[in-house]
Amino acid sequence: MVHKSLIGLAAALMVSGAAMAQDDGPHKMQVKARQGVMNYYQINLMTLGAMAKGDTPYDAAAAKVAADNIVAASNLDISMLWPQGSDNGAHPATRALPAVWAEGSDIGAKSDAMKKAAVALAAAAGTDVEALKTGIDGLGAACTACHKSFRQAD
Ligand code: HEC
Repeated sequence: MVHKSLIGLAAALMVSGAAMAQDDGPHKMQVKARQGVMNYYQINLMTLGAMAKGDTPYDAAAAKVAADNIVAASNLDISMLWPQGSDNGAHPATRALPAVWAEGSDIGAKSDAMKKAAVALAAAAGTDVEALKTGIDGLGAACTACHKSFRQAD
């Protein structure tokens, strides 16, 4: 009897575990991780933006570090963080549109364009504030271009 009810309990736990995983959406870790990379871009870009606007004093060395961080993050292979079935129709916590996975999607090209812009920014960031501003404009445009096509609007 005891034995049987333990099996029943284990089965019930497994079922509720599966239900819980479903509520959190599929690929929860991958979604969190890719959003984390995006937020890492953002925090470094904000550091640079504050210098460009004069909210914080321009610091060539700090600007170079922030820009290099973006380049380094953009060189991570995060393809495994974009599994099929992790779009905003399937997952409550993501804003990634199904277009990411659609036939003919140019997300790879948009990602390459961002990498190029990040390298250009890193080359300019430590020069002076005017060069920094130009670099930020280029990178910001590349971020926005991808978000327009592949991220659910606010
Ligand atoms: C190749 C496409 C692409 C590029 C390039 C890109 N993003 Fe994103 N970004 C996305 C997608 C898709 C999402 C939605 C991800 C999700 O919710 O799962 C996103 C989400 C975000 C988020 C929200 C993260 C969260 O916590 O929900 C921020 C912030 C962000 N991006 C910043 C940036 C910045 C800054 C850049 C440029 C330096 C950038 N992104 C470049 C596609 C891109």
